[in-house]
Amino acid sequence: MATSVAAKTDFITLAHPAPVADETRVQWLENPGFGTLFTDHMIMIDWTEGEGWHNATLGPRRPIELDPAAAVLHYAQEIFEGMKAYRHPDGSTALFRPEANAKRFNVSARRMAMPELPEELFLEAVRLLVDKDSAWIPDMEGASLYLRPFMFASEVFLGVRPAKRYKFIVIASPAGNYFKSGTPAVSIWVSSDYTRAAPGGTGAAKCGGNYAASLVPQAEAIERGHDQVVFLDAAERKWIEELGGMNLFFVFDDRRVLTPALTGTILPGITRDSLITLLREEGLTVEEGRYSLEQWREDATTGKLVECFACGTAAVVTAVGKVAGHDGDFTIGTGGPGQLTQKMKNRLTGIQRGQLPDTHGWVTKLD
Ligand code: PLP
Ligand code: COI
Repeated sequence: MATSVAAKTDFITLAHPAPVADETRVQWLENPGFGTLFTDHMIMIDWTEGEGWHNATLGPRRPIELDPAAAVLHYAQEIFEGMKAYRHPDGSTALFRPEANAKRFNVSARRMAMPELPEELFLEAVRLLVDKDSAWIPDMEGASLYLRPFMFASEVFLGVRPAKRYKFIVIASPAGNYFKSGTPAVSIWVSSDYTRAAPGGTGAAKCGGNYAASLVPQAEAIERGHDQVVFLDAAERKWIEELGGMNLFFVFDDRRVLTPALTGTILPGITRDSLITLLREEGLTVEEGRYSLEQWREDATTGKLVECFACGTAAVVTAVGKVAGHDGDFTIGTGGPGQLTQKMKNRLTGIQRGQLPDTHGWVTKLD
């Protein structure tokens, strides 16, 4: 019989036989890095064509057994989200715009022909895990508990069609800076040989395949001594889209800010959306439009472009200091973080961390 999992009580809690020792956890949390440490627990929920969502558990984090013919291993039906839980000054824990992640998860699910997860269930799953592993939320400035909800096709079947069996899982990872040693400004490489997403493709979905496609150009960026890759549009190879895992903003000398429009090939970042609101509150004019690589180079050279920053859940707000491509390099402003970049980072993180008032209802307190 189908199990209703809309309410907290419908999750079965499985005891952890051997959680990480307190002293070890405390030591790990002093310098968590990004993406290598994981908390004790995880959420898992199954979906099958007949039963819908069922079998919801909060249990010990453990390897999952997959049949070699599981559909995800062949046709990459997989989507994920990235969000963070923060420790507030009063010791409580909070999430930032989790409803937006729940909504985007379903947008991704639709694009990848996967079942939607009721938003309330997504939120409940995340809340339960954060509550269970709240001791894992680092409280140093800049650190948080990174949450990774994801879904994949687990059906054992090699035919090419939407699977009839999926797993939704949430894991959590204490996180510090995404960029090593909190790099003040990153250097980015313009990928002319590779694109990330084409019109009609999956660029606006948060699916694993988009990231797989970004790895060769990202490796090329690293090889050439840069931190990140920036992609151009696939049709004309002219317009700036986004980085492998971040959106971009351009700041001009006339209090105008531009960010690439959501054309369907760019991920609609929740940080991007929040910053548009915050920038407008600062009295800046924010445009969502097109910006060419050629114009970018020219504006940086003439000084019309004064700042540029990348943003995302993992990267927060990070200044872009240098840009390099096959046609040479250019520097933006002083090459370091500009004033507005710093100010917006402080405003955003201040709200997320409970140090500034949340006037938009973006913060969900968990206790
Ligand atoms: N663009 C890409 C490709 C991403 O992976 C991310 C990170 O999730 C973002 C943009 C920023 O999105 P958000 O601000 O919702 O984290
Ligand atoms: C995030 O910011 O949450 C992402 O998913 C991006 C990834 C590069 C870590």
